Amino acid sequence: MCGIVGYIGRNNAKEILLNGLEKLEYRGYDSAGIALLDHEQVTVIKEKGRIADLRKKVGNEAFGEVGIGHTRWATHGKPSEENAHPHQSASGRFVIVHNGVIENYASLKETYLEGALFKSDTDTEVIVQLIEKFAQEGLETKEAIRKTLRLLHGSYAICVIDKNQPDTLFAAKNKSPLLIGTGTNFNVIASDAMAVLKETSEFIEIADEELVILKRDQIEIETLDGEEVERAPFTATIDASDIEKGTYPHYMLKEIDEQPAVMRRIIQAYQNDTGEISVDQAVLDELLASDRVYIIACGTSSHAGYVGKVLIERLAGIPVEVHISSEFGYNMPLLSENPLFLFITQSGETADSRQVLVKVKEMGYRTLTLTNVPGSTLDREADQAMYLHAGPEIAVASTKAYTAQVAVLSILAVAAGRARGNKAAIQFDLVSELGIAATAMEAMVSSKELVEHIAGEFLATTRNAFFIGRSVDYFVAMEAALKLKEISYIQTEGFASGELKHGTIALIEDETPVFAIITQENINWNIRGNVNEVLARGANACIFAMEGLEQPGDQLVLPHVHELLTPLVSVIPCQLLAYYAALHRDCDVDKPRNLAKSVTVE
Ligand code: AGP
Repeated sequence: MCGIVGYIGRNNAKEILLNGLEKLEYRGYDSAGIALLDHEQVTVIKEKGRIADLRKKVGNEAFGEVGIGHTRWATHGKPSEENAHPHQSASGRFVIVHNGVIENYASLKETYLEGALFKSDTDTEVIVQLIEKFAQEGLETKEAIRKTLRLLHGSYAICVIDKNQPDTLFAAKNKSPLLIGTGTNFNVIASDAMAVLKETSEFIEIADEELVILKRDQIEIETLDGEEVERAPFTATIDASDIEKGTYPHYMLKEIDEQPAVMRRIIQAYQNDTGEISVDQAVLDELLASDRVYIIACGTSSHAGYVGKVLIERLAGIPVEVHISSEFGYNMPLLSENPLFLFITQSGETADSRQVLVKVKEMGYRTLTLTNVPGSTLDREADQAMYLHAGPEIAVASTKAYTAQVAVLSILAVAAGRARGNKAAIQFDLVSELGIAATAMEAMVSSKELVEHIAGEFLATTRNAFFIGRSVDYFVAMEAALKLKEISYIQTEGFASGELKHGTIALIEDETPVFAIITQENINWNIRGNVNEVLARGANACIFAMEGLEQPGDQLVLPHVHELLTPLVSVIPCQLLAYYAALHRDCDVDKPRNLAKSVTVE
């Protein structure tokens, strides 16, 4: 999952590409490069590392009115200057950037490119070598690209420069996201709108298996069969300022702080004129027509899904299963008569989730996507969608999207429950309960000093840690562990506290940090019993308890909210704990190693 950007216009593409790549860096940041075309002169500059490193190497002189750029998350070939994009064909005529994975690149190499010299270990270089091969066999560039695309198995978003056509930029996509940005006397291509918002807010979607030919003042879209495609542009609703860090040192801290405001925005977005919770009838009908909901998601979104299961089952009385996408698609369980597939995805581009959506649609099942990115692939391809209204989430570690997912799932549960006459839903004054939660979240985002102190006390030197809980607290423990792992690299497990004694407690030794989350009255003492079991084996235990359940010595008391909404509050000190643990270890909080924000390859 890389980020690509392209420009054709009258200005120097250099700055536009580098700025665009900086905005796309959350998609992959192990190496990067640009290519600039000035008349028939092409310059390719690549570097291992960040865009800042590439920018130094590019310098001030580089120029081209046409250009393409790439920031990488390595899939084939380790991060290096050779494996960085753009890649050039053997003669240097064609240059390509690519986001995706070509599954059959090895057999294509064998079948069509025997003896060809390769400079990199990437699947991508095979694409550009094939284009050159077919062009040398006499095909014009567009047809050489089309012939190549027809041979590819897998996912791709590509941008291609042909030195012999300095007034044209070529692009194509299949499965990986790609957009055209339109302007006067220029056009741009980008993996997402955020990369080029400074240039334009007018965009045209590209569908799978479409080829795009861009001129400064012309856009042609064709299918791989050569049919012309007309498509109306749309205006991006994101504001360029939304994606700025402002005075914050990190996007993650900014996004943690935004959660109370996001909560209030969600309440507004899902309220009707009488102040009641209101969900689009078409969405509701999908849920009401189903006999079982299958929540399909990855990572943090799956953790929100587990809380969603409790909310929908308790408030709407509809059975729910939660499955991680990468498993579900290849090991499908027995399905009910009328299943509804609910995809939870911040980015709306996660390939593991999309492959499930494609499969269940082919099987004729109904689909609903809950996403933070209107216009994203999983939004466009599902039958219905609901939005998170959390605003752009840039930090790789998801925070505000998680609490937004839990809040919107509670809204969906209450609306469906009321439609089914469910007493618990009718009596649940969700608008005011979410209001109370927003205020409680404010108190939590203001507890930075205390949480930083706890991070120093419990996590300064440790190489492993545990979060434990029961019921919804167990689900928050899983999310807390993921946050700590992904940005501080501390080996962490989120564990059902009652399960510890069945084996994993063997990992507990002197000073092992164990964080217990306690928000449910009916299991307060059970968890405290489990805390005593780890304390007896030398652990360093830290307790986050909800007001009314606290005991002397607990390290942090969470403001009281409705028992079904406690994840909205209890997750925040866990997010901050991860943030400060990473900060204390000089980790790159916003761009942790080996990760990317939107995982667009399976
Ligand atoms: C969470 O912090 C991670 N970035 C990751 O686990 C993420 O939640 C997962 O990749 C799913 O992404 P999505 O919500 O965009 O589909």
